[in-house]
Amino acid sequence: MNTAAEIQARMGGQPLRRIVFDPEEIARRVEAMGREIAAAYPADEELLVIGLLKGSFIFLADLVRQIERPLHVDFLVAASYGGGTVSSGSLRLVYDPEAQIGGRHVLLIEDIIDSGNTLNRLVPILRSRGPRSLELCALLHKRLAGSLTLEPRWVGFDAPPEFLVGYGLDHSENFRSLPFIASL
Ligand code: IMP
Ligand code: MG
Repeated sequence: MNTAAEIQARMGGQPLRRIVFDPEEIARRVEAMGREIAAAYPADEELLVIGLLKGSFIFLADLVRQIERPLHVDFLVAASYGGGTVSSGSLRLVYDPEAQIGGRHVLLIEDIIDSGNTLNRLVPILRSRGPRSLELCALLHKRLAGSLTLEPRWVGFDAPPEFLVGYGLDHSENFRSLPFIASL
């Protein structure tokens, strides 16, 4: 899975600018974050890991297997009114594990922080439900966001200001299954 031709085949023939993070460096970083997360929560307190779908599904699956402590997993599906690629307007929760948040340590898993708009609208909704703690772990951070309602406690990698796909990230639902992160 290394020649340009093989990579292009996986991309459906679409040219790929470059591989930004390869599977090995992703795995190393995920393992390190899993260890840090396990150490950050008292062993006898409940931890609920919530993945923001769909982009976080592969990251979350790899990450929870590196967090060596009991935990629960759930997901959130948020949709912006209006759709499109620009994050604006209000946020609607399409799937929402409402009942589980109060009183628990909640760790929110996001694929990538770009403008920060999604998080800035989601975090107040979650905080209003009284979690014991609310932390954020993002695989990628473009560091473009002005001010974030909740700064991520864990970041996998600082990302270049390019459109990234793979390892769960999509462009029009394509490329999520790539084992690496690439720039389109
Ligand atoms: P934000 O609200 O602008 O921070 O954008 C957050 C969401 O937009 C992420 O969860 C992704 O789903 C999507 N997104 C932002 N940048 C990228 C990118 O470079 N590639 C793929 N998806 C992205
Ligand atoms: Mg997303």
